[in-house]
Amino acid sequence: MAAVELDHLGKLYGGETRAITDVSLSIADGEFLVLVGPSGCGKSTLLRMVAGLEEISEGELRIGGVRANERAPKDRDIAMVFQSYALYPHMTSRDNMAFGLKVRKTPKAEIDKRVADAAKLLDIEPLLERLPKDMSGGQRQRVAMGRAIVRQPEVFLFDEPLSNLDASLRSQMRAELKKLHRDLGVTMIYVTHDQVEAMTLADRICVLELGVLQQAGSPAELFDTPANRFVAGFIGSPQMNFLTPTHAGTLGIEAPGGVADFTLGVRPHDLRLGAAGGLAGTVDFIEPMGWEAHVHVRLEDGTAMLVRTETAELAGITGGSSVSVDVDRAKLHFFAPGPDGARL
Ligand SMILES: Nc1ncnc2c1ncn2[C@@H]1O[C@H](COP(=O)(O)OP(=O)(O)OP(=O)(O)O)[C@@H](O)[C@H]1O
Ligand SMILES: [Mg+2]
Repeated sequence: MAAVELDHLGKLYGGETRAITDVSLSIADGEFLVLVGPSGCGKSTLLRMVAGLEEISEGELRIGGVRANERAPKDRDIAMVFQSYALYPHMTSRDNMAFGLKVRKTPKAEIDKRVADAAKLLDIEPLLERLPKDMSGGQRQRVAMGRAIVRQPEVFLFDEPLSNLDASLRSQMRAELKKLHRDLGVTMIYVTHDQVEAMTLADRICVLELGVLQQAGSPAELFDTPANRFVAGFIGSPQMNFLTPTHAGTLGIEAPGGVADFTLGVRPHDLRLGAAGGLAGTVDFIEPMGWEAHVHVRLEDGTAMLVRTETAELAGITGGSSVSVDVDRAKLHFFAPGPDGARL
């Protein structure tokens, strides 16, 4: 088992294009850490630096307490699963899984045992003699995971491994990954741009934006106390609503310390539709989601807001209805002005 420490890591491509700036993180032995952020924020770069596939420009990487910057990928005791799982097309699942071990000259009996164990864990025993072209995307993804598992690494790295799968398979594989983590008890670092995946899988989430670590914390911490407006907008679905001091004034809400310039954040489920007393607006349209509904409201000043409510509470409200939007005063988030404003 191994802890992974990122100590002031930085990455410059070609000596000039900065992709990662001063990222420090201690990933505990056995932790499931998810790196999340928008496209191009540096997630894959950071993961590849840990894997040894990308040179580290600045700082130190330690695996199991030992400096690993110069260690070759094959000596890092790490297995990586990519989005494009790239199985060898002419090899059966069994041979795909065994290949890496054969190259490492692992004895045949040991290979057979590890492949059998991994196949059992992943529930792919009936697929062992099949070629990739004769399997579904989800089955192939399992074989790709099997290929990583048989190596018995100290650390697993995943780079968007589920993004090629359809929604229902993705949620099934999410559950299986969680189980896998529990069963193997190893350190996992998982990259995704999907905050739902991050929330459901992680012991701890790290949000990256433009190569800079914005916040690291449990899913609940990031949801309840986002460190800045960027994290607030990124974590949580549907997205947090952002209001101005003028809106706050209408609602009789003051920022902490009487600050005049700020952004007020309110999550969609912390809003209520009423007859009066809140922010006046008109319902643009409603997205029915079964037991809940997402009500898109246009305020009089043109601001778009999203209110999440139980369908049963809609009580006749439809597209075009005049409504008043009120906020739960116990659930307010205040940020300094600007798109990256810090939590006040
Ligand atoms: N080999 C490279 N040379 C120069 N710049 C690169 C190289 N690889 C990535 N970059 C740049 O580094 C930044 C981070 O890229 P990276 O692939 O790590 O992002 P990402 O968060 O994984 O994005 P995505 O979600 O789209 O996979 C981007 O601006 C990208 O253009
Ligand atoms: Mg990437």
